[in-house]
Amino acid sequence: MLIKSWKNSQLKDNDVTDEQVYHDRRSVLKKLGFTGAMTLLSQSAVAGSFDWFSKDETPAFKTTPLNFTKAKEQLNPLTDESVATSYNNFYEFGTSKSDPLENAQEFNVDPWKLEVGGLVESPLSLDYDDLLSKFSLEERIYRLRCVEAWSMVVPWIGFRLADLIKAAKPLSSAKYVSFQTLYSPEQMPGQRSRFVGGGVDYPYVEGLTIDEAMHDLSIMSVGMYGKTLPPQNGAPVRLVVPWKYGFKSIKSVVKIELTDKEPPTTWNILAPDEYGFYANVNPNVDHPRWSQGRERRILGTGLNAQQRIDTKMFNGYSEVASLYSSLDLRRFY
Ligand code: MTE
Repeated sequence: MLIKSWKNSQLKDNDVTDEQVYHDRRSVLKKLGFTGAMTLLSQSAVAGSFDWFSKDETPAFKTTPLNFTKAKEQLNPLTDESVATSYNNFYEFGTSKSDPLENAQEFNVDPWKLEVGGLVESPLSLDYDDLLSKFSLEERIYRLRCVEAWSMVVPWIGFRLADLIKAAKPLSSAKYVSFQTLYSPEQMPGQRSRFVGGGVDYPYVEGLTIDEAMHDLSIMSVGMYGKTLPPQNGAPVRLVVPWKYGFKSIKSVVKIELTDKEPPTTWNILAPDEYGFYANVNPNVDHPRWSQGRERRILGTGLNAQQRIDTKMFNGYSEVASLYSSLDLRRFY
């Protein structure tokens, strides 16, 4: 891995993620036999220097302004756009936080096809323009809590997942919704090499229960900070479910299927004892190797731009609690 010269304006991974957590999640790689990757990652961690987006570099990918209804409720302060678009998890483009920005700028988002099918009466096929025009776009300012114990506050733009599902006319037998990311090894280096892509079996897949998918908080995002999504954040369309750990919010989605069985999900396949299907943010159920009681809120790159705060049940979105009234959340983590 290329280690760039350190700049004051740059965050280190160690600054934003508890060092222990950072190493622990990557030790999943080790479990899977990716000792080469571990050695490399550890070396850069020891050096205390990570690749990081330099503000002098202009990303090649062009985003465009969107028309949308502004969020009714402003949640302040927001995470700086430069941080939310440069400190990312998108393993298809590499496992280091700076890899997606660095490796995704040539990603082709138009033409795009998002297919909605399975247990529905009217399957849908949406192209790039449909994604931006078929549904009314609104801004939702949400907290994003990663399972790695860092969080951000992001102004997403998108449409309700429920509106998309209703347009496809779901059958009453549909109990779950599965999601799939684009499979394009020629564009995604992590899909070409298990070493670069963290040992994940691609395509990345995720899932929700039908009730979770129909909840008003669940959106398909096509933009952030007033513009279309940049590729490192999941262009042209991604899921955002703010009461769940960030890994549920699958990026660059090409396929949505309604099913009657719980669908397989990527991190659960990789480490079932550590990452469950539900993955609700829950400070009372720790990850087997670290506490989920607190988080590091990343707002920017300045000295006071990170806060250590208590993690809230369902990431503070208590309105979803009724979805789980009959579920033991220790068992169904
Ligand atoms: N989707 C895909 N396809 N591949 C990924 O590696 N990472 C997940 C999620 N969606 C991921 C993904 C994780 S772990 C997190 S925390 C969020 O994306 C991060 O979203 P962000 O980079 O926009 O903050």
